[in-house]
Amino acid sequence: MKPTSPVFTPARLGPCELRNRIIRAGAFEGMSPEGLPSERLIDYHRQLAAGGVGLTTVAYCAVAKDGLTFPDQLRARPEIEPGLARLAAAVHEQGAACALQIGHAGYFANPRATGSRPLGPSAKFCLFTGARARRATGAELVRLRDDFAAAAGLARRAGFDAVELHVGHGYLLSQFLSPYTNRRRDDYGGSFENRLRFVLEVTAAVRQALGEKRALLAKFNLEDGFRGGLTVDESLQVARALERAGVDALVPSGGFVSKTPFFMMRGEVPVHEMVENESSRLRRLGLRLFGRIFVQRYPYRDLFFFEQARRIVAAVSIPVVLLGGVRSLEQMERALAAGFTFVSLARPLIHDPALPLKLQGGQALASGCEPCNLCVAEMERGGIRCPLADRHSRQPPLTAPSPHV
Ligand SMILES: Cc1cc2nc3c(=O)[nH]c(=O)nc-3n(C[C@H](O)[C@H](O)[C@H](O)COP(=O)(O)O)c2cc1C
Repeated sequence: MKPTSPVFTPARLGPCELRNRIIRAGAFEGMSPEGLPSERLIDYHRQLAAGGVGLTTVAYCAVAKDGLTFPDQLRARPEIEPGLARLAAAVHEQGAACALQIGHAGYFANPRATGSRPLGPSAKFCLFTGARARRATGAELVRLRDDFAAAAGLARRAGFDAVELHVGHGYLLSQFLSPYTNRRRDDYGGSFENRLRFVLEVTAAVRQALGEKRALLAKFNLEDGFRGGLTVDESLQVARALERAGVDALVPSGGFVSKTPFFMMRGEVPVHEMVENESSRLRRLGLRLFGRIFVQRYPYRDLFFFEQARRIVAAVSIPVVLLGGVRSLEQMERALAAGFTFVSLARPLIHDPALPLKLQGGQALASGCEPCNLCVAEMERGGIRCPLADRHSRQPPLTAPSPHV
């Protein structure tokens, strides 16, 4: 009999145990009309759990109204607790665990969704939204910290196993870390230590609200992906500081939504489809005119964060999750051999939520996902889906691992 792959052995994530090493990365589902978890959202994560993941992450829940990036996006408030509790129960019934990703969009929050002027570490014009953000006051920082803690408390009460704190991708906490967006001259800006301060205050508050029985993950940037942003050397220090602040696992990623959105994904930039699906007329026009110039393309390769993320593994003693272009069982095994405890996948599981079971049962060796990124263009079209999988009638073929690393 074939020995079990280490990918399908249990492992500890802080106080929790996951049945295997595969995590569904947070990827905006677009299934929360009026900011509430819908039956579709619950069913979507039930399917992922039934498909064999160890942990599924409910994507981006804004901790406050002024942190929204889409009008119909999950927003932390007491009304969402019953829906989240049903989602957690549905996932648990299938033997998987679930995490809630919590975050705030800061200076690139969408005024159409928030109804207010965005706020960030510093006053700054954002080309992505066409709005000029204002600088958050000291009192607002206290309120935002409390909003993060309240969202974590909500996840705990709803029965979630974990919370993923969004410290990456140019969201508010990442904006504080980045010299590009943080020009403050008070205790929260300037030196690296000061830029880290707000992140650590929020992490401490979230850790406390979550209690000892739930796991805390932090997704953060290895680099922002442009000159003048956060660098890998600084990200090593961020990782160590998050470990000291009580984070149970680290998820290194990269990129800045408002500036380098495809750095975190790599591959094709489906400008035409993004124009078609954009609901804001202004953004549609901007994309049509300047999309090819402003939305930079980064060539795809498998395991695109592997080398940089290995430096994080060497720098900390808590579990590190490999994210970014993980497609095959062989790559997952290579990641575990290199010291990562888990792997995290977004697009391959959008393509086929049953991939883990297929890998485990030998029906597949790798995902059939091509990095066409059409799923990105689908985000605002009534629920995430993979147009490619739909075309292949949801029967991805047995695919050999891709030759490149
Ligand atoms: C359609 C889509 C939506 C995404 N939404 C989120 C999100 O809400 N939060 C987040 O942290 N990352 C988000 N991501 C990024 C993924 O979590 C992940 O970092 C990236 O896709 C690389 O992983 P992959 O190669 O396995 O797709 C999204 C990615 C895609 C494709």
